[in-house]
Amino acid sequence: MSIDYSQKIPNNVNLSEDRTLQRALEHWQPNYLQWWQDMGPEGSPDYDVYLRTAVSVDPQGWAHFDYVKMPDYRWGIFLAPPESGRQVNFGEHKGEAAWQEVPGEYRSTLRRIIVTQGDTEPASVEQQRHLGLTAPSLYDMRNLFQVNVEEGRHLWAMVYLLHRYFGRDGREEGEALLERRSGDQDNPRILSAFNEKTPDWLSFFMFTFITDRDGKYQLAALAESGFDPLSRTCRFMLTEEAHHLFVGESGVARVIQRTCDAMVEHKTDDPARLRALGVIDLPTVQRYLNFHFSVTSDLYGSEVSSNAANYYSGGLKGRFEETRIADDHRLGASTYPVPTLEGGRIGSVDVPALTALNERLRDDWIADVAAGVERWNRIPAKAGIPFRFKLPHKGFHRKIGVFADASVMPEGQVTAAGEWARRSPEWLPTEIDRAYVTSLMGRVAEPGRFANWIAPPVVGINRQPVDFAYVRFN
Ligand SMILES: [Fe+2]
Ligand SMILES: [Fe+2]
Repeated sequence: MSIDYSQKIPNNVNLSEDRTLQRALEHWQPNYLQWWQDMGPEGSPDYDVYLRTAVSVDPQGWAHFDYVKMPDYRWGIFLAPPESGRQVNFGEHKGEAAWQEVPGEYRSTLRRIIVTQGDTEPASVEQQRHLGLTAPSLYDMRNLFQVNVEEGRHLWAMVYLLHRYFGRDGREEGEALLERRSGDQDNPRILSAFNEKTPDWLSFFMFTFITDRDGKYQLAALAESGFDPLSRTCRFMLTEEAHHLFVGESGVARVIQRTCDAMVEHKTDDPARLRALGVIDLPTVQRYLNFHFSVTSDLYGSEVSSNAANYYSGGLKGRFEETRIADDHRLGASTYPVPTLEGGRIGSVDVPALTALNERLRDDWIADVAAGVERWNRIPAKAGIPFRFKLPHKGFHRKIGVFADASVMPEGQVTAAGEWARRSPEWLPTEIDRAYVTSLMGRVAEPGRFANWIAPPVVGINRQPVDFAYVRFN
């Protein structure tokens, strides 16, 4: 399953055997490159960046590392190897052979699912396009650019499916994916979290830790799809996604480490003193966590959803690790608890599991985020600092679902809207917090040097030293 790099569009799908498809994608390619030039990392086209490129889809040794100018990155179409005899593993079609073509009855639904996933990929590149200007080190700048080129490749992955399986409609969607813009008034990206700004590096690390993790859970659910090309596409995307999560988790961990070091050295937990020392006080990190966690929670949609039920029954989108779950994979009789809000009180009710799949996927994601937060908590614990990070209640600061109009505090009590608004500066980043974090941002571009507010990583990329020239300016 190695990848053919002699072609204009690297691929492992025998693109050269389908001239019509190849021509359509080669027609889309310059539009993609134009989009990258307009909306990709600002000021970066001449940099040599130490990037990994997929050279095979073999889980062992799939990546090759070398200096690349980003516009020359070989974006391509890579599907995980087919699984022989694979079946539809859940829903009404359970036991049928997995589909190699789109079933007519699910055509528009599948297209919608693929477009919605595809839209997040360029959106995040747009959200992050200014960050290279303020990278805290060459190591971090390289990681940002690696994430960016791979999100670009994820767009390719979805556009391939649209072109290959959805004809003219698919090609039109492929164009529209290059036309929407994150945060644009008139033509925004589809999902609201992808229209937020990622204005600073703390936001970037939170985004890759939390929002890319939503990506992981969505891709994992789609990797279970009965539509086999979607499954194979998503399985390979997940391989790349793991690095994005690492960038986020280790990035925040290094911020926490640096702050804890300063707290110990100067024997203080006073945010004002810590800010005077040029590090990010832990309560501010907590507020950023609260913000990104709540905004990303909304991406899973309403707790009870007939769409989610239809996706599942149709065999289009499964649960996280569907085939490892021991049940009937039809969910005709089982239930799942979802939160309720009545008379200002939060409760829980068991509903048909089929309708609660959004909530279930959100819960799986929350458990994964919480585990990462616990790993962060080892840093202050080890330093003898009593501060601990905590995820807010899932009803906190929500815009979608049962909590949309509620004023839920981070601990989970419901309060009046006025009280919530008055206290929200304790819970969400304030203008002052954001201005302070922004004031720390400034490019550090000397190999081995790091901005004052973040600790160096423990190891470099691909066994290179930490002081390796991960980006070379020209
Ligand atoms: Fe992605
Ligand atoms: Fe990602």
